[in-house]
Amino acid sequence: MKAIILAGGAGSRLYPLTQISSKQLQAVFDKPMVYYPLTVLIASGIKDFCLISTPQDLPRYQNLLGDGRQWGVSIEYRLQHRPEGIAQAFIIAADFVGSDDVILMLGDNIFSGGDDFPRAVTGFDGGATIFAYHVKDPERYGVVEFDRDGKAVSIEEKPRHPKSSYAVPGVYIYDNQVLEIAKAVNPSHRGELEITDVNLEYLRRGKLQVRRLSRGFAWLDAGTSTALHEASSYIEAIERRQGIKIGCPEEAALVRGFLSINHFETLIDCMPKCEYSEYLRGVADEWHRLQGEKK
Ligand code: DAU
Repeated sequence: MKAIILAGGAGSRLYPLTQISSKQLQAVFDKPMVYYPLTVLIASGIKDFCLISTPQDLPRYQNLLGDGRQWGVSIEYRLQHRPEGIAQAFIIAADFVGSDDVILMLGDNIFSGGDDFPRAVTGFDGGATIFAYHVKDPERYGVVEFDRDGKAVSIEEKPRHPKSSYAVPGVYIYDNQVLEIAKAVNPSHRGELEITDVNLEYLRRGKLQVRRLSRGFAWLDAGTSTALHEASSYIEAIERRQGIKIGCPEEAALVRGFLSINHFETLIDCMPKCEYSEYLRGVADEWHRLQGEKK
């Protein structure tokens, strides 16, 4: 399965921060925002990435993430000239997707906890899999309605009167049909190719699976300055309490076996002395300790 990270958009709600850099490059506590979705995807076993962003911001991502080789993955880049909708990602990156299945993740969605995504990727067997998360303010999102048997019966984009409290987070898994479905979507009243219309087409075909994310799972929004601050505080609190970092691509790549321990330690040697590199050094020490125990 291949992955697309969508990291464009105007970021107007974070102005003036977005005058300096793109929304998905802003700091969420101690890392750039895009590290979080990237890490979730690496932890799910994805090796082939395509990142989509604006003409101004794309070079910044290329600078930060390179071709992904340092983490044992491959990252390609594509331009979105105007923010014409999330579903446009499949038109822009059609050549990258080729004949594969694909997972799309929004670059400003931050998740923590659970193994729902790795399981969904491993167990994917065609059609579409999306997720549902209980929120207080569903009207801000795509909202999914379930029948008594827990089967999804409708999805509405930012409904004024939501039919449930279940929002659809920005992670979508599709089979290759998505390329053809996205091409056939018409722009909405806000002039965008809506991802909800893609999901509705899968629902119409009887090929949509909606998985509810578990209670302990955190889905954080970082779309406004207040939400960004809250996301940073949340990550900081968890990291301080547990002594485990969220959103380190190096660690996920080591755990997944994309990187050897030697390569991992070489990466750390190239980093400045800081909390981040000290944390990774601790991960390497733990790795050696566990290997010693196995012998
Ligand atoms: O966050 C989940 C929600 O994302 C879903 O519940 C909604 O169904 C879905 O439509 C979307 O909601 P928003 O309309 O609030 O998304 P927004 O326009 O804020 O875009 C989400 C991210 O995708 C944002 O980081 C910018 C990026 N983006 C968006 C568009 C429309 C692009 O890179 N290009 C685009 O054309």
